[in-house]
Amino acid sequence: MLDEASFTYDPFAREVMNNPLPFYKELRAHHRAYFIPKYDLWAFSRFDDVVELLGMGDNALVGTDTSLPPPEALLRHNNGVIAPVAMDPLPTSNLLGAPDYEILRQAHLKPFKPRAVAALKGQIEALANTLLDDLLPRGRFDLTLDYGGIVSAAMVCHLLDLPLGLAREVLTTVNAGTITDPETGGLDTATSIAGCLDIIRPAVARRRAAGADGSVPAIDGLINLDHYGRPLTDDEVTMQLVCVFIGGTETAPKVAAHGLMELANHPDQLAEVRKDLDANVDIAIEEILRFCAPAQWFARTAQRDVVIGGQKIAKGQRVIALMGSAARDEAEFDQPDEFIWNRPVPRVLSFGHGQRYCIGVHLARLELRIMVREFLKRVPSYRFDMDRAIRRPSSFQWGWNSLPVIID
Ligand code: HEM
Repeated sequence: MLDEASFTYDPFAREVMNNPLPFYKELRAHHRAYFIPKYDLWAFSRFDDVVELLGMGDNALVGTDTSLPPPEALLRHNNGVIAPVAMDPLPTSNLLGAPDYEILRQAHLKPFKPRAVAALKGQIEALANTLLDDLLPRGRFDLTLDYGGIVSAAMVCHLLDLPLGLAREVLTTVNAGTITDPETGGLDTATSIAGCLDIIRPAVARRRAAGADGSVPAIDGLINLDHYGRPLTDDEVTMQLVCVFIGGTETAPKVAAHGLMELANHPDQLAEVRKDLDANVDIAIEEILRFCAPAQWFARTAQRDVVIGGQKIAKGQRVIALMGSAARDEAEFDQPDEFIWNRPVPRVLSFGHGQRYCIGVHLARLELRIMVREFLKRVPSYRFDMDRAIRRPSSFQWGWNSLPVIID
């Protein structure tokens, strides 16, 4: 229990990064809109307010300070003035509002549409089982890094026409950027993004040299984009793909591993799920997404005066949508701190909401279902070596970075 009288919340405070959940409870109960003066930032923790914030259209809120600003960026206040985002070279779309955001998103959306994703089912199942063929005889392995991480990173390789053998390097490069600096709470995104760009850029150059005929739609769609009066350069195309590269690699493995841990911690629930894996895993994944999604918040900057959750936000101020808190909102879910595999989850914010709703939502759900189902099909009994499990303190990606599983 936190002391109500002396309560403060800072997403980058060490105590918050260790475990934000008690802070969220207090925020939801007593601080509907919580202002952090040093960052000129408002935090919204209730489910309905997060929906309102993320759903606000008309470019009222745009990620012009990036959607994951580090503390040093937040310490610089806008003071009501928003500098225009430079468009040459074209920046990553998450700094941009409509219509540029939609134009760039649309240009690489094709492989993420439901039918395109459904066609990947056999490939992902084969991948998961090839990995399990190798991992299960070892008796113990890392569920996040050796199983789910490789499945997700390999699918990113597939989307970007990179050799699947690069999956481990993709995973390591992306993960390097989600390690929080214990002093500042910031992420070493600069180093990680540079590493990501170095892997993506040659794939873009290869596609352009090959004619970008649409057979690798995530890249070819951006190469062929005809909107800015000139083609995007290789660097600009590469920049647009960083989000897919990182988002597609880092999140699903943590969710799958944590979900399998929750099931192991609730043997009665696991037994229920096992009664019909084909039907029940799909149901359990919705609760796993609610309970285990690691992204804690995303930021936006008010482009004009707005009102969220009854609170006036001045132009230039930053707002953060605490999705990690919304997932535990007692006004939305009964017993929100309990894992209940088949609870109704009519609304979920784990993939965000509104304009920037996760582009990879269908792929993520398919990967999660396959990772969990194939594991449970082949493993009758398993447990975790929690002394060696790692959940790093993090302001943003608070999830099981490493989860050693023991196969009984
Ligand atoms: C369980 C897995 C996943 C979860 C929980 C997740 C969650 C999210 C969330 C919450 C956002 C919203 C960001 C915002 O509002 O600023 C987002 C955006 C995004 N996600 Fe995912 N994601 C997952 C998997 C994936 C996959 C598999 C891909 C692609 C292969 C992907 C690509 C993206 C991209 C590109 C965006 C950025 C949208 C934008 O701002 O332009 N994600 N994701």
